[in-house]
Order: sequence, then structure tokens, then C-alpha cells
Amino acid sequence: MVNRLAVNLCGIPMQNPLVPASGSFGFGLELADTLDLNLLGGISLKGTTREARFGNPTPRIAECTAGMINSVGLQNPGIEVLVSEKAPALRRIYRGVIIANISGYSVEEYAFNCGRADACPDIDLLEVNISCPNVHGGGMAFGTEPKLAAAVTRAVKEVTEKPVFIKLSPNVTDIVSIAKACEDAGADGITLVNTFLGMRIDIARRQPVIANKMGGFSGAAIFPIALRMVYQVAHACRIPVMGCGGVQRAEDVIEMMMAGATAVQVGAENLRNPMACPEMLEALPELMDRLGIKCLQDIIGVV
Ligand code: SIN
Repeated sequence: MVNRLAVNLCGIPMQNPLVPASGSFGFGLELADTLDLNLLGGISLKGTTREARFGNPTPRIAECTAGMINSVGLQNPGIEVLVSEKAPALRRIYRGVIIANISGYSVEEYAFNCGRADACPDIDLLEVNISCPNVHGGGMAFGTEPKLAAAVTRAVKEVTEKPVFIKLSPNVTDIVSIAKACEDAGADGITLVNTFLGMRIDIARRQPVIANKMGGFSGAAIFPIALRMVYQVAHACRIPVMGCGGVQRAEDVIEMMMAGATAVQVGAENLRNPMACPEMLEALPELMDRLGIKCLQDIIGVV
């Protein structure tokens, strides 16, 4: 029987396009008792740096209308733990696409981390995070300037045979110029968008809510902006896009795919409802029937 939800992401078959976004699902293992991981098309793991990181001071989270701000600061156990413990442990229980989200503070660090991830047979795809707004001297600094984005892309492509997606920041005026620079430098795909730089103030304390003052805003409120950027990049580039930003419902998945996304990531909604992805997957077939969609692969970029 044909799987109507199946998609092909730059040569990697996925049973469906749904992927919990990096930072919203730990290393997958943490959610293994809560839901059947094997329902998910892929899992993007927590952003990983060369050294272990404790992350930013607390409070790191601020609630907002239709979203949230985080300033986690890339808390992670380091690349060696990812490749020797986390990814192998996830592979033992999960058959879908394992995506390593790789962060760094220099071009050399990105290349080192990707080289280590390349040697790990349990990782299927590298998502290079040049868009974290919560660290200084790395992350987003590489994703707001086409030349730097291209330099990271070139460096990581030299050290890996695995498909490389570059995860872009929406905190730019011209997202297409950054995406095209990555494509020209050899990227196999683009993930967009990461979070929008935001801020809340505790008016009783007259202090920022977040210890680091600002953080990344995500959730339902960003969906139309993320969708616009996915549309722009998908129509300007030939490489596939993983759409991300404010996806909450099966309808949002369809909209992202019509805008040009081949796979769809779910971030903040997982924190509100860990069952969000299975619930969307359950709702999709009936919604597709109503909309006259035979297979999801058919609607990618139809708008
Ligand atoms: C964080 O750890 O601060 C969030 C990761 C990201 O925004 O890329």
C-alpha cells in the first residue's frame, strides 16, 4: 500500500515529513516513554558544540502571547557524548531519520564537530545551526552574513559525506541572499527558521524576565513570517527546505509544504504538548481527503 505521507528529503526516504525541531525534544531518548518515537519522520537533536556547555543563567524562559522566549544558551553534553552515547542509544530504539544539530564558535569548530558526526553511522543528516541567538561570538553571527554562512558551509562540506542542511536565522533583512550563499557553497538543504530575537520585561521588578535580557521568540505567533521565508527560499533555491516556525496543527503542515517545505519541523508546540507530532500525523489523512490531496509529496511548493 502506498504511504501517502512519505516524502523524499534529498535522497533520504522519510515515512512522513514531521520532525521535532532541535531544542524541543532533547536527544529523543527523553521522550521515549511518552510517545512512540517511531511515528516520527525524523528527530533533530539538541544543538551540540565541541565542548559540553552548561548554558545561560536562569531564568531562561519567558511566556508570551502565542509563543515563548528561550535563552537556553546551547546547553549540551558536547560532540563526543553525542556521537558515542546519544545517537547510538537513539538508533537502538528509533528507525527514522536522525538529525545532528551542530553548533560552533568558529568555522574550525563547525568543521571539527561535523567531522566527528560524519564518523557516526547512527546520524543520517547534519543540520548546521548558524542561527542560535543566545550565545555570543558564534551561532547567529555566522547566519546573518552571506560570506560567513558560505564559509561555514564550505568547511563542513569538506569533512562529511552526509547531507548538510544549514539552519538559518530569521533575524536578517534578506533571507534569500543567505540561503543562496549556502546553496552556492554546496549545502544540500536549508532549515528555516530559527527563533526571532525577542524580550520581555517584568514590570514589577523593572527587570528583563530573562537573565540574559533577550532570547529567541518562537511559537504560533511566528508562523506567518516563517511561512513567508520558507516560500521565498524554496522558490529562489533548488535545494530542499525543512520548514520550521510556529507549526501547531495538521493544517500548518500542509501550508508549510504548499509554500515549498519538503519536511516540517515542530518546535515550541512540543514543549506545550509533547503529543503534538503524533496528533498532527493522526489528523493528516482526513485533512488530505478533504483537500483532495493524494500524497504529501505532490503538494510541495504548489503555491
Ligand atoms: C539555545 O540553546 O539557546 C537555543 C538553540 C537555538 O536557538 O539554536
